[in-house]
Amino acid sequence: MATATRPATPEELTEAVVRRFDSCTDERLRELMQALVRHIHGFAIEVGLTEAEWGQAINELTATGHITDDRRQEFILWSDSLGVSNLVDALANPLPPGVTESTVIGPFFVANSPLRQYGESMVEEADEQGTPAWVFGRILGDDGEPVPGAELDIWQNGFDELYAVQKPEGKEDHLRGRYITRADGSFAFTAVRPVPYPIPYDGPVGKMLDATGRHPWRPAHIHVIVRAPGYRTVVTHLFDEESKYLDSDAVFAVKGSLLRRFVPRDADDPERPLSIPHGDWVSLESDIILLRGGERPPVVDPGRTA
Ligand code: BEZ
Ligand code: FE
Repeated sequence: MATATRPATPEELTEAVVRRFDSCTDERLRELMQALVRHIHGFAIEVGLTEAEWGQAINELTATGHITDDRRQEFILWSDSLGVSNLVDALANPLPPGVTESTVIGPFFVANSPLRQYGESMVEEADEQGTPAWVFGRILGDDGEPVPGAELDIWQNGFDELYAVQKPEGKEDHLRGRYITRADGSFAFTAVRPVPYPIPYDGPVGKMLDATGRHPWRPAHIHVIVRAPGYRTVVTHLFDEESKYLDSDAVFAVKGSLLRRFVPRDADDPERPLSIPHGDWVSLESDIILLRGGERPPVVDPGRTA
């Protein structure tokens, strides 16, 4: 017969483990741990988890730890590829209509990108093959007022599908930069048209995608964080509305309101900026609307020590 200390059934075991956290004096931690135990136990009971399957899960977590370092964050990839990052983002950032929506930060953000001038190019590698892109717009508050002095933190991949942080031998500031808005809230930067790219698939997450018949591709996008005193920080993407994979993003981060049009421009277009000295180019116009007030805790970057 079961006693409080010797549970006999799976359900009694779950309850015994949950009760073991009753003495936790940190209320929130107690809530988190007890719910975690209920859900993991519930999962194991629901699927009839075998010893071999649990052993494999432990092995994959071990491999996840081994492949993770200050440039590669496999734990974030699990969170992203299972839709948890986007779920936590949605729970943390319920925004009123009209305000620019947020989406996942991903594993390739690196703090302290170089501060660049209005319109300056982020292209630092001479062999970058991407189509030059002039990206411009204004940062506005949800009341329509321009936000001068806002900081845009931008990062994107190049034509080779990679972010600078994935190429230790390359220039670390390639296709990264911070820009400050002018008095009328305007900003501009010179980028390249982003291309779709696969999330890193040479580790445990890639193994899971392969085994489950999923692909690793993300639709083309530019990452933007906008910070301004008195406004809620937004972490978001600008997606190319013509990209492949918009309907099957490997990390579930696409939102309809974040699709943008890259307009093709000829080499002799009179609006060609000085930062794009020759050749065909594209332009993208996008305002970003910030929520006034409503502090957001600083965006923590668990993947980087820099
Ligand atoms: C990214 O957009 O950089 C990204 C997001 C999630 C997983 C991998 C990459
Ligand atoms: Fe990305």
